[in-house]
Amino acid sequence: VTKIGVLTSGGDAPGMNAAVRAVVRTAIYNGLEVYGVVRGYTGMIEDDIYHMDSKSVANIIQRGGTILKTARCKEFFTPEGRLKAYNNLAKRGIDGLVVIGGDGSFNGAQRFSNEFDIPCIGIPGTIDKDIAGTDYTIGFDTAVNTAVNAIDKIRDTADAHDRLFVVEVMGRDAGYIALHSGIATGAEKVFVPEAQTDIDELVASLTEKERRKKLVNLIVVAEGDKFGGGNEVGKILKERMPNADIRVSILGHIQRGGAPSCFDRLIASRMGYYAVESLLHGRHNVMVGIVNDQMNYIPLDTAVKEKHIFSDEWLHILKVLAS
Ligand code: F6P
Repeated sequence: VTKIGVLTSGGDAPGMNAAVRAVVRTAIYNGLEVYGVVRGYTGMIEDDIYHMDSKSVANIIQRGGTILKTARCKEFFTPEGRLKAYNNLAKRGIDGLVVIGGDGSFNGAQRFSNEFDIPCIGIPGTIDKDIAGTDYTIGFDTAVNTAVNAIDKIRDTADAHDRLFVVEVMGRDAGYIALHSGIATGAEKVFVPEAQTDIDELVASLTEKERRKKLVNLIVVAEGDKFGGGNEVGKILKERMPNADIRVSILGHIQRGGAPSCFDRLIASRMGYYAVESLLHGRHNVMVGIVNDQMNYIPLDTAVKEKHIFSDEWLHILKVLAS
């Protein structure tokens, strides 16, 4: 490998810039040339690619978003799109690619590396933490802390009015942001896509707590939960508990922005470094993850196919602590 491309793809996540910086600096340190691909696979197809030097990534480690910009690109899922993309890399002599993104982005990378002789390395960057083969994804820690800070504020007003708030957080079809932020804010219940929530049981428990004057003011719902998100859960609870003063709050894209936490900067720097090391040492078409604080490399197709594992342990702890 002599010239590599780096791109960010899918939903942005705080810490992506720190990963780009690590990839660029590690590559240059090892004598490689680096190209930034703008707007993910879209830039690869549209030939929006530029040469990067060490200075291109100065002063970005602390910034949210991604200086390379990002997109969800449908055309890359067609053979014609991938061929255009390949030609744009080939004409510059780019012979390695680092893709920072989620499972959709790895799916694209896997197809691409099957068709063309360009090794691809994936770095897990998504606030959803829904990727197999890694304990952490870049952006999750920041996003969940943003959610916690927002929910803490909501609890102040909930408490002042004796209201019950249903707060919806992001996560697509994963419940990690809901689970972690719910535990950290002392929620009564979290609704996650990975588990069935018994509404009858919840209503009974809320009614019983009302009777013993235990103030309950927070339920956290993952946007992808089985009832259809915060508004739906709020509607059901309003119907079932007409006397309760219930409000719904949807946190939304605030969870994707902001300066990355120290933790996200660290894992992004580490994963970026090892992504380039992998290319250099011929460990190709893998995703670079961290498991039990050790680097973990899983084939891109496994990262795409395997489901992340959701442990029920925390749900049980939450139930006990809310009693
Ligand atoms: O994958 C990150 C994520 O923020 C999800 O949590 C959410 O479902 C989705 O992206 C929102 O996507 P968009 O920004 O395209 O609306």
